[in-house]
Amino acid sequence: MLGRLNHVAIAVPDLEAAVASYRDRLGAAVSAPQALPEHGVTVVFVELANTKVELLEPLGEGSPIAAFLERNSAGGMHHICYEVDDIIAARDQLRAGGARVLGDGEPKTGAHGKPVLFLHPKDFQGTLVELEQI
Ligand code: CO
Repeated sequence: MLGRLNHVAIAVPDLEAAVASYRDRLGAAVSAPQALPEHGVTVVFVELANTKVELLEPLGEGSPIAAFLERNSAGGMHHICYEVDDIIAARDQLRAGGARVLGDGEPKTGAHGKPVLFLHPKDFQGTLVELEQI
């Protein structure tokens, strides 16, 4: 079912400081910030040779990462995203095996314009898993 690792997402309280950390300390190529109001985050992409890291800062009221940052004030790894060929087939297979799909179970358009779903962290070793159809 799983394809490549698409990205690792890190929630951060201060995007500018996080960008400086990756760009200036680690020497990484970091994109310009992109506001995604429909996702409640501002994001930058750290481009690596084999994958990317997304740094997410809350945007607006009711950001989906606000509660996470309350529990993790310095920031932390928020989710990991794996690519799948067929997100509906993946969802149905996972559900049949007892895994919980978050929300109403219908894929939403993710930050990259592709269909995504999230899986309950309690079913995957305490890690929020995003599936993205490529
Ligand atoms: Co993601």
